[in-house]
Amino acid sequence: MLNFSRFKVGTRLYSGFGALIVLLPKPDHLLLDNIAVRPDRQGRGLGPDAIRAVARYLFDVLGHHRITIDPSAANDRAIRAYERVGFRPIGRMRGYERGPDGTWHDGLLMDLLRDELR
Ligand SMILES: CC(C)(COP(=O)(O)OP(=O)(O)OC[C@H]1O[C@@H](n2cnc3c(N)ncnc32)[C@H](O)[C@@H]1OP(=O)(O)O)[C@@H](O)C(=O)NCCC(=O)NCCS
Repeated sequence: MLNFSRFKVGTRLYSGFGALIVLLPKPDHLLLDNIAVRPDRQGRGLGPDAIRAVARYLFDVLGHHRITIDPSAANDRAIRAYERVGFRPIGRMRGYERGPDGTWHDGLLMDLLRDELR
């Protein structure tokens, strides 16, 4: 498990962003989880920028081949942010996660292959 809360790519330092990387049981497959930009820094493109930098690190430095991500199907902003980086929706997961009110909500499974990163 890797935790990116502050990281540097080249000369650029990213902070105010968090992402947890979960290694899936299959070799070279990863799940990016718990992605969040500090509330006062949202809406400026920092999320897509930081996800792109993390993905580049995972592909180019760690040699991974595929990354998956699983936003709530209702989280249009997160889905748009991931699409901007090159992630594609590959399936709706029904009743995937439970909200604070105890009801079940759908998730959207998205994936990104190395040569699709934008
Ligand atoms: C989701 C998140 C990481 C995105 O990072 P961000 O820096 O705020 O991203 P931005 O809003 O600047 O850009 C994302 C895209 O979503 C679009 N967008 C913004 N609000 C939107 C909305 N309500 N519906 C649809 N698209 C929206 C932006 O226009 C932008 O698209 P564009 O590049 O084509 O213009 C961040 O908003 C966040 O931390 N949200 C709260 C936690 C969360 O939901 N995390 C995701 C868990 S899977």
